[in-house]
Amino acid sequence: MDVLHEKHIVLGLSGGVACYKAAELCRLLVKAGASVQVVMTEAAEHFITPVTMQALSGRPVYGSQWDVRAPNAMAHINLGREADAVLIAPASADFMARLAQGRADELLSLLCLARPAARVPLVIAPAMNREMWAHPATQRNVAQLRADGAQVLGVGCGEQACGETGDGRMLEPPEILADLRAVLTPPLLRARRVLVTAGPTWEAIDPVRGLTNRSSGKMGFAIAEAAREAGAEVVLVAGPVALPTPRGVRRVDVLSAADMLAAVRAEVDAADVFIATAAVADWRPAQVAAEKIKKDGSGDTPALTFTENPDILATVAALPRARSGELFCVGFAAESHDLLRHAQAKRLRKNVPLLVGNIGPDTFGRDDNALLLVDAQGTTELPRAPKAELARALVADLARRLGAVD
Ligand code: CTP
Repeated sequence: MDVLHEKHIVLGLSGGVACYKAAELCRLLVKAGASVQVVMTEAAEHFITPVTMQALSGRPVYGSQWDVRAPNAMAHINLGREADAVLIAPASADFMARLAQGRADELLSLLCLARPAARVPLVIAPAMNREMWAHPATQRNVAQLRADGAQVLGVGCGEQACGETGDGRMLEPPEILADLRAVLTPPLLRARRVLVTAGPTWEAIDPVRGLTNRSSGKMGFAIAEAAREAGAEVVLVAGPVALPTPRGVRRVDVLSAADMLAAVRAEVDAADVFIATAAVADWRPAQVAAEKIKKDGSGDTPALTFTENPDILATVAALPRARSGELFCVGFAAESHDLLRHAQAKRLRKNVPLLVGNIGPDTFGRDDNALLLVDAQGTTELPRAPKAELARALVADLARRLGAVD
């Protein structure tokens, strides 16, 4: 289940051009199953109308601490009490300065101050001109807000509405959503370092041709994302796929199985968990032609011979840290039939504590999947569901296993 489902989010807008992105952010929050109460400062209303935000959130917008709609006339208290999180997006330089000082002279800063801070996180997405962002006063305010317990998100870099280029743009709505999810998700994998392989590999035949497979990488990317949401530090070694990098995840792109093994070797010593979801090619052409192999018109076909690729999972599982249990290894098995038998056999062959089986042709390229978890004790089924949901369930299962190991 998406952590935002049935959560109540107060979305606060302060004045800035990035208010236009708050409309999309509101839409994404509602789509994720959250209820959204929009609160706008007077400055924000110069950039986007409350009518737009009301239409998108499905609730009248609050703008004044003197609003008499609340029966107890205490909108500033009620709004904070009802919320699961207060998200300020965009947060202007001026608004952050006011928050840092604990000012309470208008509704939005008032409700931030009055919210039950231990229970309701305050998440801030700054947006401003690059000079304003870089100014020591702003950086001082950011440090103060963090010290006071607020989650100040980063800023984007690029072209700004003022025509300048640099740091200070508000993050894009999907990035803010990912960071908000991470704030609200129980930190089951906090301080764990997770290394994931994902996607297919590409085994070159010549400079333009190669062998690959139908793996989309979606399951591995979803696992990397879910692990990061749960507080892990995640490195994702990805074969050639066109998927966006999950927020907060460090990605290393590779092509061949040999490249993937080299990337994994470079990262694995720093990992506590290794999850091998990649569909690594079992074989590669024994020779890679330096130039494109041409048809010569004779009708003869090129004779390809193959060499076996290294088994990345088995290599990692044989490391002393894996053998001692310090590094927890998870294998995946994409089978076409007889899943249980093959998954059990593969777990023993790869020598890993947990093997996750799925039926390859039923999942390649799709957004949903069904998983079978096989360990020494037996099996657990995770029934068909979106990959994001299965990834979260797998992360929760892993956290239990790691807890048992500690
Ligand atoms: N794997 C790997 N390196 C390889 C082959 C596989 O790391 N060269 C990993 C996969 O990422 C997966 C697991 O091993 O976690 C199972 O891969 P799979 O290809 O299904 O198993 P194989 O051992 O190749 O067995 P078979 O092809 O006979 O099913």
